[in-house]
Amino acid sequence: MDSTTRIIATDDDGITQAAGILRAGGLVAFPTETVYGLGADARNGTAVAAIYEAKGRPSFNPLIVHVPDIEHARRYIAWSETTDRIAAAFWPGPLSIVAPLRDGHGLSSLVTAGLPTVAIRVPAHPVARALLAAFDGPVAAPSANPSGRISPTRPAHVRDGLSGRIDAIVDGGACPVGLESTILGVSDQQVTLLREGGISAERVEALLAASLHRHGENDTLNAPGQMGSHYAPGAAVRLNARKAANDEVMLGFGDVPGTLNLSQSGDLAEAAANLFEYLHRLDATGAPIAVAPIPETGLGRAINDRLRRAAAPRES
Ligand code: TXA
Ligand code: MG
Repeated sequence: MDSTTRIIATDDDGITQAAGILRAGGLVAFPTETVYGLGADARNGTAVAAIYEAKGRPSFNPLIVHVPDIEHARRYIAWSETTDRIAAAFWPGPLSIVAPLRDGHGLSSLVTAGLPTVAIRVPAHPVARALLAAFDGPVAAPSANPSGRISPTRPAHVRDGLSGRIDAIVDGGACPVGLESTILGVSDQQVTLLREGGISAERVEALLAASLHRHGENDTLNAPGQMGSHYAPGAAVRLNARKAANDEVMLGFGDVPGTLNLSQSGDLAEAAANLFEYLHRLDATGAPIAVAPIPETGLGRAINDRLRRAAAPRES
């Protein structure tokens, strides 16, 4: 790998360059509506291994495969009526489907970390869509941050975390949703919420007219983000704070003021879009971070999930 990381524009020429790097087995960070992804050709084991290496990611944590449309998605996973309804309603968009791999899928086993299932997503961001269309193949992409750190919602976050370790960053500005995709495990029997994210559980439940199975501690399915400490800033994080202590900086919400306020009007979508950027900024102060209470409804659940992980005791 080249030790310098190129910044690539989102025009046709930039997209062509980025697709060329993927085809050659390189690593390209690109914007999606959720967070920046660190992409590699999902069929190329060496390229996928380079993702794990650049992120310092434990190899048992499988990756999401990004495809341009439903037709591509059907090449990789067993397709059921339920998959079809979910895909039709939420793709392109901030939702990933985990389903059994199809025979002859051709994906590197490093992508699935040896599981019999794979996570697939059709992103909605125009730059991601242009790149996937130009590449015309499956792109494995975890969030483009060093493993265990805050997810990147701006090109500068990617540069700060991975510069010199990846080939290029496609500069598409800030990510509009700001939270990773919702992950659903879909089988004939049930739909399981594996990770809260950009599409609220309520919206999926409304579509299915059924409640989602919640991932439980005893389930055998290998669930995402099971490592307690994740999305972690360098400094300590204290939740449900009404006021900062002397040494703390404060992340406010609604009428609980802070050094930065996720959304003064209490809008959860706005708060989600600001979450990681504000955590990055407060983290840069080096002070411990106090966080205002966030309601446990809609996108608030995904925000609280990320905050709880940020506050969890650190793994060594
Ligand atoms: O919004 C997103 O989902 C972003 C953008 C780049 O698409 N990607 C992302 O990827 O958040 P990552 O790797 O940071 O998180 C993917 C999660 C991991 O926690 C992983 O364990 C889980 O998805 N996952 C992937 N494949 C799985 C599978 N077959 N079964 C269960 N969980 C899976
Ligand atoms: Mg991640």
